[in-house]
Amino acid sequence: MTDTPDTHAVYGAPPREVVDAPAGAIRISPLTPGSPLLEDLAPGSLDSVTLLAPPGTAERRYALALALRALKDGGRLVAAAPKDKGGSRLRKELEAFGCTVNEDSRRHHRIATVRKPAAPVGLDAAIAEGAPRLHPGLGLWTQPGVFSWDRIDPGSALLVKSLPPMAGKGADLGAGIGYLAHTILTSPKVEKLTLIEIDGRAAAAATRNVADPRAEVLWADVRSSGVAPASLDFVVMNPPFHDAGVEDKQLGQAFIRQAAALLRKGGVLWLVANRHLPYEHVLGELFRNVQPRADAGGYKVIEAVK
Ligand SMILES: C[S@@+](CC[C@H](N)C(=O)[O-])C[C@H]1O[C@@H](n2cnc3c(N)ncnc32)[C@H](O)[C@@H]1O
Repeated sequence: MTDTPDTHAVYGAPPREVVDAPAGAIRISPLTPGSPLLEDLAPGSLDSVTLLAPPGTAERRYALALALRALKDGGRLVAAAPKDKGGSRLRKELEAFGCTVNEDSRRHHRIATVRKPAAPVGLDAAIAEGAPRLHPGLGLWTQPGVFSWDRIDPGSALLVKSLPPMAGKGADLGAGIGYLAHTILTSPKVEKLTLIEIDGRAAAAATRNVADPRAEVLWADVRSSGVAPASLDFVVMNPPFHDAGVEDKQLGQAFIRQAAALLRKGGVLWLVANRHLPYEHVLGELFRNVQPRADAGGYKVIEAVK
């Protein structure tokens, strides 16, 4: 007999009404700054994992494989996902790892419960397929699951095309894997650039992509106060407008408010957004001069001087 307490982990943020996570579980999410990493869990160390499976196939199989790896033999994995965002694939994917699946349905989610088999199949391959890598086409480090992980976002490309060389101290809000930052740092007049990104996987990739002594990458929420040095000369951003897959205009507006708070008087914000997003009103309230600088392919680039 052993009196070691059971150890549980919860990955992502499974809705309570879909699955109940055990009390005292370790909370893990790449979208929670400072969270422990699924990758770092010792193999064979956990009694159970409850997981909200991510929507992308490679990302989901990666998370499922890491969760199974972290479980003790016979440990329990409960994986849930909305039916149309990977839920209907859970059974097959877990069976391919050698698991016997018990499936349930609740609130438009599929819930698959398995015990870790004695000899799981294909975990290493799924982990390799979802791992960080240097993408040959992009020339940047990236990972399935992060924003626009294997192609340059057309909005970001338009912003890069429109940007004059930046100077002084600045920030890149929602920096992703560092695509904008990479370009900004080509200007020798940039003294310091703080990249802020909530997705720990993207922040880790950005750290590799902007290996420049002037750059600092923070795994943090742009909306937190004091997140970056104040009195900045410039801010650049392609602000997010989805939260958990649902359009959320307030998120982009919160980014604009934070940009205004971080800039010095006369400091400049460059942003790109989908043309339909209603940012002009909040920009007009916080900046003294707001000018459209480009409009193409459904995106608008705006320069705003505080
Ligand atoms: C539209 S993407 C732009 C990424 C990158 N700047 C580019 O141009 O390719 C927005 C980024 O903001 C990040 N993000 C979303 N909410 C955030 C928050 N509250 N704080 C910091 N970053 C956030 C997303 O993870 C995503 O990487």
